[in-house]
Amino acid sequence: MQLLIDIHQTETMRTILLFISVSLAVSAVYSLDNGLARTPPMGWNPWVRFRCTVDCVNDPENCIREELFMEMADIVASEGYKDAGYEFINMDDCWMSKQRDAQGILQPDPQRFPSGIKALADYVHSKGLKFGLYQDMGTETCDGYPGIWGHIETDAKTYAEWGVDYVKMDGCHNLGPTLFGEGFVNMTRALNETKRPIVFSCEWGFDMRAHNPNYTDIALHCNSMRQYNDVQDSWDQVINILNWYTWEQQVMSQVNGPGNFIDMDFIVVGDFALSFEQAQSQFALWSIMSSALLMSSDLRKMDPKMKEILLNREVIAINQDKLGKMGLMIYSKSPYEVWAKELDNDCFAAVIFSKATDMPHNFTVTMTMLGYPKLPYAVRDVINHKDLGTFVKDKPLSLKVNPSGVRMFKAVPSKKKGFKVY
Ligand code: GAL
Repeated sequence: MQLLIDIHQTETMRTILLFISVSLAVSAVYSLDNGLARTPPMGWNPWVRFRCTVDCVNDPENCIREELFMEMADIVASEGYKDAGYEFINMDDCWMSKQRDAQGILQPDPQRFPSGIKALADYVHSKGLKFGLYQDMGTETCDGYPGIWGHIETDAKTYAEWGVDYVKMDGCHNLGPTLFGEGFVNMTRALNETKRPIVFSCEWGFDMRAHNPNYTDIALHCNSMRQYNDVQDSWDQVINILNWYTWEQQVMSQVNGPGNFIDMDFIVVGDFALSFEQAQSQFALWSIMSSALLMSSDLRKMDPKMKEILLNREVIAINQDKLGKMGLMIYSKSPYEVWAKELDNDCFAAVIFSKATDMPHNFTVTMTMLGYPKLPYAVRDVINHKDLGTFVKDKPLSLKVNPSGVRMFKAVPSKKKGFKVY
């Protein structure tokens, strides 16, 4: 089936185009000005795959302990992930001891982190990587470990002394919207006062979603912004998250940009639930939307085809484009959805996503329909690493898209010298 799009035909399309023109008129001027996260953060986090596994006797392989983070750091450094741009080895919940020490200083669990956090951070640094940890803007973390409430300045100092480069701040057991917001503002200040460059990742928007969060304020205080529910090892949940950020794209694209990027939550490529096509889709969609790219999988057991998805540098380059624009959905008519992202150097990228459930179909786009009607573009398929030819105005570009799958390309004005994709 060949489908040619008439973008003026659908009501959805008109609404989306209106959103885009509004978004483009307001540039992303709101940002936490600590010089960090100029492109979306990339790294690894254990949460989806390892959760709060603390029984190291019966399940040493999956246990949240220093060895797990060291092993992941080794793999990220030696198996091409670091070279592809993955930089942070982050801890999530359940790393702490249940009690602070007599001075109120946070402690790691002594059995599972006997060498201490500074030693672990040093190890990660010795691999040329950066180290992150998790805390909670409340009285306890979601799994019942000490929260930061009442200890903001002390904990910020402790992180800096340990050599932490990234802090994820959760929002369980918080004391309500006003104090919660104040806590994040104070934390931003406390981190800045340490003088150590520490990326600040906030679940402020997510936990306050019922209270109309002020996203501008969040962007002013956070480098990375989790605004929606947790991802699970589940295709349905990947789609729920995608739908929410797309629905909110007008608002999100105004606060997203160098210094503060949306975090659509973890990349579950290489876990159990996603098929190859679905894995490709999550990676392409998170990339075009300029989300943080934090893998949460067992890198020790990564399927080679899944690894190839995670290491696709042409796709990553679109995520990491220095303009930092969020890709926007510009077309939606079941079963297809199309995103376009403005890139540096007058280029752009696009993703065609199929929700078809029968078989692969051809889908046709044109430069005009993608919002780039003026110049001829050299188009390159960044997933299959193939040049597709030059396209201008309404010349059709027809691509076969598999069910639950994507096609993704980069378009470069063809008059530019030295067509180079990344
Ligand atoms: C949730 C958070 C997850 C994970 C978990 C740990 O609130 O969204 O990403 O950090 O807590 O308990």
